[in-house]
Amino acid sequence: MDVIAAIHGRRSVRSYDPKPVARDLIESIILDAAQAPPPFRDQNPLAFNVVQGAARIATYGKRVMDYTREHRPDGPGWDWLDRPGFKIFWDAPVIVIISGPVGDCNRAGQNLMLSAHARGLGTCWVGSPMLWLSAPEVRTELRIPSALMPVAVLCLGYSAAIPETVVRERPLIVWGDEA
Ligand SMILES: Cc1cc2nc3c(=O)[nH]c(=O)nc-3n(C[C@H](O)[C@H](O)[C@H](O)COP(=O)(O)O)c2cc1C
Repeated sequence: MDVIAAIHGRRSVRSYDPKPVARDLIESIILDAAQAPPPFRDQNPLAFNVVQGAARIATYGKRVMDYTREHRPDGPGWDWLDRPGFKIFWDAPVIVIISGPVGDCNRAGQNLMLSAHARGLGTCWVGSPMLWLSAPEVRTELRIPSALMPVAVLCLGYSAAIPETVVRERPLIVWGDEA
């Protein structure tokens, strides 16, 4: 699949086959993600923590829900906690947590989604575990390097249902050469 097809065909996958993903394939996708450009050449590498096993990941999902219900700050943005059928990790057999500078992790996360899609796998970027991941004891348990901040969490696995493609609204394009 070429990169243009991957950009336009990728969708968030919220239904996964429990089948495990081969370690070599996960590693290839991570190496693709790590090709995202850093602002400086000599920058320290990002960290990618891989968690495998749908049952183990579902247990983490329940912990995320419990922790977030207990610790959420006041204000909007937490309605997903009470949304029927909402799952933190959508039964994915793999999650990948990217840690490091925010912009770099975001660029790597996008690469990871496109690489996974081009290699026949689905992804869903999930922001819902971020409050839970802000707890130092959770970061230690997941072996996230203490000097790095977890920024991006992605579900990864074989899609059980392929979401329809969407064409997004045309963005505003301002041509600087118009008088
Ligand atoms: C930073 C970020 C956080 C997200 N968090 C969640 C989430 O917690 N749960 C979820 O199901 N989807 C989450 N998504 C997926 C978005 O809902 C999804 O990208 C959006 O609906 C567009 O759909 P598409 O990815 O299929 O194009 C997140 C996406 C991004 C970029």
